[in-house]
Amino acid sequence: MDIDKINQSLHNPARFHLHLFDSLPSTNTYLFEQGKTGAAEWSVVIAEEQTAGKGRRQRRWESRRGKSILLSLLLRPSLESRYLNLLNLFTALTLARYLETCGEKNSHPALEISLKWPNDLFIRGKKICGILLEASFAGERLDYLVIGIGLNVNQDATDFSEEIRPVATSLKLASGQEWERESLLAGFLEAFYEDYRRFFPGNFAPLVQLYKQKVLFLGKPVSVNSGSEKIRGIFRDLTAEGYLVLERNGRRTLITSGDIFGGEFGHGAEGRAHGV
Ligand code: BTN
Repeated sequence: MDIDKINQSLHNPARFHLHLFDSLPSTNTYLFEQGKTGAAEWSVVIAEEQTAGKGRRQRRWESRRGKSILLSLLLRPSLESRYLNLLNLFTALTLARYLETCGEKNSHPALEISLKWPNDLFIRGKKICGILLEASFAGERLDYLVIGIGLNVNQDATDFSEEIRPVATSLKLASGQEWERESLLAGFLEAFYEDYRRFFPGNFAPLVQLYKQKVLFLGKPVSVNSGSEKIRGIFRDLTAEGYLVLERNGRRTLITSGDIFGGEFGHGAEGRAHGV
């Protein structure tokens, strides 16, 4: 990737503090450390490759060098911590909406993206992007958070390990065309910035509504793996905080984090790193 190209594609480059690395263990780990010593809001760390990329729930995130967008973004919102999960939903929604408009604008075929609660992006049943949010607190108060995004862009099927090939896809595989990562990244940062100003700090009801239109399995039977246990039920609703309401035997249970699986994904995908 070329940092000048990214800056040229940004309408307002001064808004962001971009740092491009050839290789890092993990963009999230790096930026989280920088956050402790006062890294500015809208710091963005990008890497061509990660040697210890992290996924959710202690999984690893693999990435073939130069094929993805691997980025972390630092924010310092004044947000009640019970709304923190909304940043997961927000990031997934904003990226999905951006990618859908991108197809139309840049003469790529239109893409239809679905969301899997809380923050995975899917195209035709395969994962295209994962998001990892890490937050730092000063006592009860949220100090800063790092949003990590791993978007599969120009991978061919053979770039994915055999293990995840059946469940992973890329923009290239979905559209049949290569994508220019610099302009894609710049466009996403701008879309994120605009949407963030629209929905944060307090315009959450429309955010949850929009998210619900794109989320998989709403109203359907799912199983939820919360780490310690697996529970089945109907994915009935989302709360104002973006938590999942699961209905079991007529009773409602609130799920604050976990992996959900519906019929079409089966249970085989559990525990795998959906990256490469
Ligand atoms: C998941 O689906 O489990 C989340 C994957 C998040 C991967 C991204 S890649 C950039 C950033 N740095 C990391 O180490 N992880 C996130």
